[in-house]
Amino acid sequence: MARSLTLSLLLVSSSLLLSPASSSGEDAADELALVSFKSYLLSGDGGSPSSSLSSWNASGHHCSWPGVVCNRRSNRVVALRLPSSNLSGLISPFLGNLSFLRELYLGGNRLSGEIPPELGRLRRLQIGAAMKNLVYLYLGKNNLTGAIPRSLATLPRIKHLFLDENTLSGMIPPDLGNLTTLERLNLYGNKLLSGDIPPSLGQLLNLREIDLGLNGLTGAIPASIWNISTLTVFSVQFNMLSGTIPPDVFNTLPHLTEILMGNNQFHGNIPASLANASDLSLIQLNNNFLSGVVPGEIGRLRNLSHLILFSNLVGTEQPNDWGFITALTNCSQLIDLDLTDNKLRGALPVQFDLDPTKSQEAFLKILAISLAYK
Ligand SMILES: *[C@@H]1O[C@H](CO)[C@@H](O)[C@H](O)[C@H]1NC(C)=O
Ligand SMILES: *[C@@H]1O[C@H](CO)[C@@H](O)[C@H](O)[C@H]1NC(C)=O
Ligand SMILES: *[C@@H]1O[C@H](CO)[C@@H](O)[C@H](O)[C@H]1NC(C)=O
Ligand SMILES: *[C@@H]1O[C@H](CO)[C@@H](O)[C@H](O)[C@H]1NC(C)=O
Ligand SMILES: *[C@@H]1O[C@H](CO)[C@@H](O)[C@H](O)[C@H]1NC(C)=O
Ligand SMILES: *[C@@H]1O[C@H](CO)[C@@H](O)[C@H](O)[C@H]1NC(C)=O
Ligand SMILES: *[C@@H]1O[C@H](CO)[C@@H](O)[C@H](O)[C@H]1NC(C)=O
Ligand SMILES: *[C@@H]1O[C@H](CO)[C@@H](O)[C@H](O)[C@H]1NC(C)=O
Ligand SMILES: *[C@@H]1O[C@H](CO)[C@@H](O)[C@H](O)[C@H]1NC(C)=O
Repeated sequence: MARSLTLSLLLVSSSLLLSPASSSGEDAADELALVSFKSYLLSGDGGSPSSSLSSWNASGHHCSWPGVVCNRRSNRVVALRLPSSNLSGLISPFLGNLSFLRELYLGGNRLSGEIPPELGRLRRLQIGAAMKNLVYLYLGKNNLTGAIPRSLATLPRIKHLFLDENTLSGMIPPDLGNLTTLERLNLYGNKLLSGDIPPSLGQLLNLREIDLGLNGLTGAIPASIWNISTLTVFSVQFNMLSGTIPPDVFNTLPHLTEILMGNNQFHGNIPASLANASDLSLIQLNNNFLSGVVPGEIGRLRNLSHLILFSNLVGTEQPNDWGFITALTNCSQLIDLDLTDNKLRGALPVQFDLDPTKSQEAFLKILAISLAYK
């Protein structure tokens, strides 16, 4: 690693010597950051620097390089858009010097190593450096390792933070709760993120979508999370989370459209208050230890399309277990109702009559269940 870093720094200085003398001051710092970015990438076949950036060279101003967007008046770099560009190698800490950058799209590459802490402010009172204008940070679907740097919690304007599908490890830094401008947080599929969900995330009162799925998170959902009334998508599926779903929580989540809590260790009842999150279309709670009856109130959800409850302990093994089915006849959008592998017993109500044009699949699945218990 030390060797490749030395090489990178050499590349930076030699490229600088070749670059046109036109840029000056902050403009030059931007170019230095871009040249460094390129030099941290692995060389492509034949020893040439990463082939997809071969046109990033001294024959043109850096504002004309593919993927680089500058503000016309100030000539400062405001966006770096290189998604799915087959980039491999490391992310240069010099990127943190792009202080006018609003968008960093590097998702879907093969970048490895750690996320440079330099992308955020390293010390509390440090001013100037670090990406204080960054709004969109996309580093998902790469091969990044190590912990999520605490310093990312200093990005004062950040709205989208996507670090999904890497192999990041350690705990979710509680400092992320400082990012009060955040609207979308995606840490899905790192597999190695562990520990509890920090209660401080409940301070993110502009958050619309949170995806913490497919990790090794443990403990209960902090009570504060249920207070984020702006939430539309809440996903914690595929973790080792436990505890119950408190009965009233959905009364304060009026914008929720999707809730995914499947493949965890939740127990207790399915709250009737779900029916008060009236925009819900997807309820996914499969592979937990949920028990009790399915609340008939769910039939009030006019947009409900998926009700996925398989592999739980739902049902009382009494004849009234199917009471909720009658209420579901009002859910005209329902296309997937999966109740397999539960403790539901008894006969289906005769009135059961879903709209066959919209709900055929659901109808067939229910038939399959009832036949299985004949
Ligand atoms: C991606 O880059 C590697 C070298 O880093 C190269 O061998 C491969 O052909 C490239 N793939 C595409 C689709 O360009
Ligand atoms: C430098 O970039 C230009 C396009 O900006 C390209 O035409 C040229 O081939 C590149 N030169 C090298 C040596 O890669
Ligand atoms: C840019 O960032 C690097 C690494 O974080 C740092 O060493 C350098 O002093 C910074 N400033 C300029 C003007 O490049
Ligand atoms: C990701 O990194 C690991 C270890 O650093 C390596 O074994 C693996 O091949 C890498 N995967 C890709 C897609 O680059
Ligand atoms: C986040 O805020 C807390 C409380 O104000 C503070 O102690 C902590 O240093 C902040 N984290 C960062 C990374 O700035
Ligand atoms: C949730 O919000 C209510 C009202 O704003 C507040 O009283 C309560 O302390 C909050 N709960 C948590 C756990 O943050
Ligand atoms: C749904 O909200 C109404 C009005 O706030 C409330 O009276 C009712 O108890 C709630 N239903 C459930 C099941 O919590
Ligand atoms: C259901 O979906 C429609 C269309 O997406 C939307 O306009 C409506 O607000 C949603 N909520 C309810 C309760 O119908
Ligand atoms: C279905 O909706 C209608 C109209 O809102 C209502 O009168 C009826 O009671 C509902 N049926 C069930 C089973 O909830």
